[in-house]
Amino acid sequence: MLTVRSLTLLALGALSAVEAAPRKGRKTSAAQQQQQATTAFDQAQQIPQGVSTATDGSTILDTTAMVNGLPLRFKVSAPADQFTADSGVDGAAAAAGDAGDLGLNVLLHGDGGQSFFDFPNQAVQDGLAGVAVLAPDPNLFWGGGSGLDRTDGVAHSQAVADLIATVMPQVLAFNSSKVSFTGVSGGSLLLSGFLLPGHMAQFASAGQESQVLLNCGGLEPQVDVSADNAAALAATRIHFQSTQQELALLQPAIPAAIAAYEQIATDQGLDTAAIGALQTVDNQPLGGHCEFDEQDFVSGVQLMADSFSAVVQDGDGVLAGTNVNVLNPVPGNEDLTFSGAS
Ligand SMILES: *[C@@H]1O[C@H](CO)[C@@H](O)[C@H](O)[C@H]1NC(C)=O
Repeated sequence: MLTVRSLTLLALGALSAVEAAPRKGRKTSAAQQQQQATTAFDQAQQIPQGVSTATDGSTILDTTAMVNGLPLRFKVSAPADQFTADSGVDGAAAAAGDAGDLGLNVLLHGDGGQSFFDFPNQAVQDGLAGVAVLAPDPNLFWGGGSGLDRTDGVAHSQAVADLIATVMPQVLAFNSSKVSFTGVSGGSLLLSGFLLPGHMAQFASAGQESQVLLNCGGLEPQVDVSADNAAALAATRIHFQSTQQELALLQPAIPAAIAAYEQIATDQGLDTAAIGALQTVDNQPLGGHCEFDEQDFVSGVQLMADSFSAVVQDGDGVLAGTNVNVLNPVPGNEDLTFSGAS
């Protein structure tokens, strides 16, 4: 049966369908003008949710759940039979709470939400089903606020952790011991600043496996790191990826984050070799912010998504279709040098 959460979600979906109805041939009233001057979040609601087909032929479900009072819109990409009957996906064959073989790769987009809509990590890659979550913020900034000051980081990271723990099992059969993360820009700020230091024990305790790919963004932990979370971080594969012409704001922030995560691993007793295997960093692509393919933002982020397994799942570290190897150990490479700023 549908839960209260799913019902809330359907109501939101219906609302967005109404708002998306075309209004051709009508004069624009003051009320409609008001509605047009809405936030990025409101505009996102006008893009219909529902079921579609992923680039690998698997199924994408795009829906919204209320989590801790926050509307979290999310997409899941997986073979149809791995969805639960309650999800509404044709061909769904799982029951809520079923364990599955697939892990998750949860992507948090950058400011404005581009990578949520592109969903570059759709399609099942090396045993991980793609998930993308839209920030519950008027500007579609993960952690709210702006710049390096993410004033809602605690609430947003709690909501993402709770979405995975309580909502995802109602939608998909998956292995809850295998949850990985991809950050893009502002999404990397939320992950490194809040979610990893505040919640990693949920994802990387004994018997669990988690990899984290932090693209074009990094922040020192903004919350206290509990003993459990520090221990989990010492078992989490993390790669920091930037470019030669990173945003000026991020050029000091990313190295500071790298140093902070290295210190956590050192404090947990890991030696230099162990840290170098766990934490890696690169910024050799000659591009601006997130332009990892040295071309543009969207294709650069897609390149990193396509290279997730090569970079953080014990692969050869070479970006897909290139000869760029990004696996430089963090020890000795903390202080990134940049050739310019974007
Ligand atoms: C779930 O993932 C964990 C961590 O990789 C693994 O040890 C376990 O065997 C997996 N369980 C299933 C049912 O695939």
